[in-house]
Amino acid sequence: MTDETAAPTAAQEPGQPERPKSVVVLYNQVGEDWYEKLQQFDPSTLPFEPEYPVHVPTVKEEYGEVARALRRSGYRARAVNLENDLRRLERVLKRNRPDVIFNLVEFFHDDASLEAAIAGMYDVYRIAYTGAAPFALSLCQDKGLTKRVLQDHSVPTPRFKVFYEPKLPKRLGLRYPIIVKPVWEDASAGVSRDSVLYDPERLEERVHHIYEEYGAIIIEEFIDGRELHVSVWGNDPPEVLPPVEFDFSELPSEYPPIITYSAKWNPLSEVYHKVHTVCPASLPKRVLKKVEDVAIRAYHATECRDYARLDIRLKGDKPYVLEVNPNPDLTEGVSFMDSAEQAGYSFDEALAHIVELAGERRPAPEPPPEVPGERRPGEDLGLFPTIQTPPADPEPGPPPADTEPGPPGASDT
Ligand SMILES: Nc1ncnc2c1ncn2[C@@H]1O[C@H](COP(=O)(O)OP(=O)(O)OP(=O)(O)O)[C@@H](O)[C@H]1O
Ligand SMILES: [Mg+2]
Repeated sequence: MTDETAAPTAAQEPGQPERPKSVVVLYNQVGEDWYEKLQQFDPSTLPFEPEYPVHVPTVKEEYGEVARALRRSGYRARAVNLENDLRRLERVLKRNRPDVIFNLVEFFHDDASLEAAIAGMYDVYRIAYTGAAPFALSLCQDKGLTKRVLQDHSVPTPRFKVFYEPKLPKRLGLRYPIIVKPVWEDASAGVSRDSVLYDPERLEERVHHIYEEYGAIIIEEFIDGRELHVSVWGNDPPEVLPPVEFDFSELPSEYPPIITYSAKWNPLSEVYHKVHTVCPASLPKRVLKKVEDVAIRAYHATECRDYARLDIRLKGDKPYVLEVNPNPDLTEGVSFMDSAEQAGYSFDEALAHIVELAGERRPAPEPPPEVPGERRPGEDLGLFPTIQTPPADPEPGPPPADTEPGPPGASDT
């Protein structure tokens, strides 16, 4: 792919950043990928009839597909796996700087709190990147703090208590049923069929279990109503995409109507095949309006950027935000992409749109002098502040090990 075929461009406004042409899809996958092993599994040995494919893409395939989709849209795009190696990150930040980093790094050294630190590195090196800035990434990892911020902005969220040790007061002060979750995990980790409690009988046992596995605990009042995933994208102003609704009606009766870890991630479990989605959710106009309003307010309150997904439950007609996901899963067929498709964007178009949103934050090139050939008064004294971007590393160096041969500028891991 050459520059001539790269990125759809419109005439550039003076003083505006150039439209991005090159993108690195950055992610961090280390060690064995469970989904790789799963590909050897024979689905006919399952004790139930699977409704969805059991062989799901590996992380590498999934992010490779993001780079391929961006190439189909005309960008020079490649996927790079950091593999916990800072030299790889440095190569992207210094030597092979793309116009935009498509940020899909969720942890570093197995530590999710470093997700924000990696995004901070892009800021330090002044490279535009997709999605939320470090503050929102950190905030939304803490469900308790996020809910406090939501409350401050009058965004309804289920009543809750946070415990940093497994010691409970005599009176919990919450109305049953309740749900017990880890404060810091996401991706439904620690959420199972035993998470919902209808009375105090097994509360202590559950709290100890979560504390031992994950640390601090959040206990919330359980909203026994419809569940929606509401995707929002854009910045100026953001736009709410058609919501996805989860249908729990086929779950075996011993399971509470929630998205457990298995329902979300484990194609070998029956519940994975029994929770269905509907997009767009069928909602009366008046309720949809309330949902959209709450989603936009939650997006702003938590300083999301470019794209995010709000997990919302309805109690009657009233939407409650369960949690905020900056940089949610963008795999084809998951909530965000289903919603984008309903809004008229193909997978490729939705990804390109996110790159363009990030591209608007590229440092603007310095405007040319007003009269060609003439210097502006004071220019020789450096009176015109310019945005400093680190110079590209002059050292030619070997081609990065994390790219695979392909057409010039277009490679993939
Ligand atoms: N207060 C609540 N009332 C009803 N259901 C809840 C509540 N909190 C969580 N759930 C259920 O548990 C699921 C997972 O909870 P939550 O979204 O808070 O966790 P998570 O680990 O951040 O998930 P992910 O990041 O995968 O969306 C929700 O999608 C919902 O089905
Ligand atoms: Mg969630």
